[in-house]
Amino acid sequence: MNNDYLLQEIKSISDDVQKKILNAKDKSELLDIYNKYIASNGILSQKKNNILKSKSIVDKKTAILKINSFFDEVKKCFEAQKKSIINAELLKENEDISLPAFDLSVKGINPIHLIREKIIDIFFGMGFKIYHSNDIDDEYYNFTLMNIASNHVSRDMENTFYIDQKLLLCTHTSHAQGRAMEETKGKPLKIISPGKCFRKDDDDLTHSHQFMQIEGLMIDKNINLGNLKAILEIFVKKMFGENRKMRLRNSFFPFTEPSIEMDISCDNCCGVGCYKCKNTGYIEVLGAGIVNPKVLEMNGYNSKVYSGLAFGIGIERIAILKYGIDNIRRFYTNDIRFLKDFKG
Ligand code: DAH
Repeated sequence: MNNDYLLQEIKSISDDVQKKILNAKDKSELLDIYNKYIASNGILSQKKNNILKSKSIVDKKTAILKINSFFDEVKKCFEAQKKSIINAELLKENEDISLPAFDLSVKGINPIHLIREKIIDIFFGMGFKIYHSNDIDDEYYNFTLMNIASNHVSRDMENTFYIDQKLLLCTHTSHAQGRAMEETKGKPLKIISPGKCFRKDDDDLTHSHQFMQIEGLMIDKNINLGNLKAILEIFVKKMFGENRKMRLRNSFFPFTEPSIEMDISCDNCCGVGCYKCKNTGYIEVLGAGIVNPKVLEMNGYNSKVYSGLAFGIGIERIAILKYGIDNIRRFYTNDIRFLKDFKG
């Protein structure tokens, strides 16, 4: 007897055991095979011990490695068969022939993704590039670099979800402005930055504690309110068509001066006034303005040379207006009856 013959023998027993395992029809057959061949006093282990005791094996280490690899295959095969027998038994127990088959067809794309892509497309057309930022950032970028005072109410724990003393779930995508300016180091820039926002703000049908925005920032020489208005008009026309009305209102944001808010006529009442627009005929979709020189300076720009425009668009708001959706929560509940209307 030589080394090869012994290993050949144990290999052929292992192969046989695997065939037996695959033919086992239930748990009890499988258990018999286990006890007879695989258990520590089973045939395979006995063979292994005999081989290792045999004087004809010179290189014991290689022999053990080979035997172990045969055993591993047997164990793998055993586990796989055990799983499939258990699954088959479970299926039998739960079988209900009156149930319809699972319908796994793809139903649709969440409208917030459709709108996000559409907005990105529109701004690409105007020469904006995407700047990727995180949804978690430092308080410094979210508030301080945006000229939001240290005692501003938005910083309160009741309004912002803090992770620790410094890190928070971003309350807006404006934090991307500081990040982008830091990277561009005082040079012109033209970016949009999509992201998620989180706030304690969920008291009506168009607000939720989590939502999405797309931030826009353009810095160059001689940027003015006329440029901002032109960009927003193109956006509205491309998104809603020529006939939807938009209006700009004065507003206040610490990071822009002057600041504006843009409203779009309500899809539900065509601007007459209803529950959805709180009888105003319009729904707010974005905040914007001319970048506050203080923000430019804080972020490494010479405000005597450069000026900028910025905007933050609420993606869900746009989707609500575009598709006439009655409640912002529909976007997040993954209801197939809702999603199937949006094929992309
Ligand atoms: N960050 C503001 C918000 O979440 C939106 C906004 C307003 C963004 C004006 C801007 C801006 O860039 O210029 O309500």
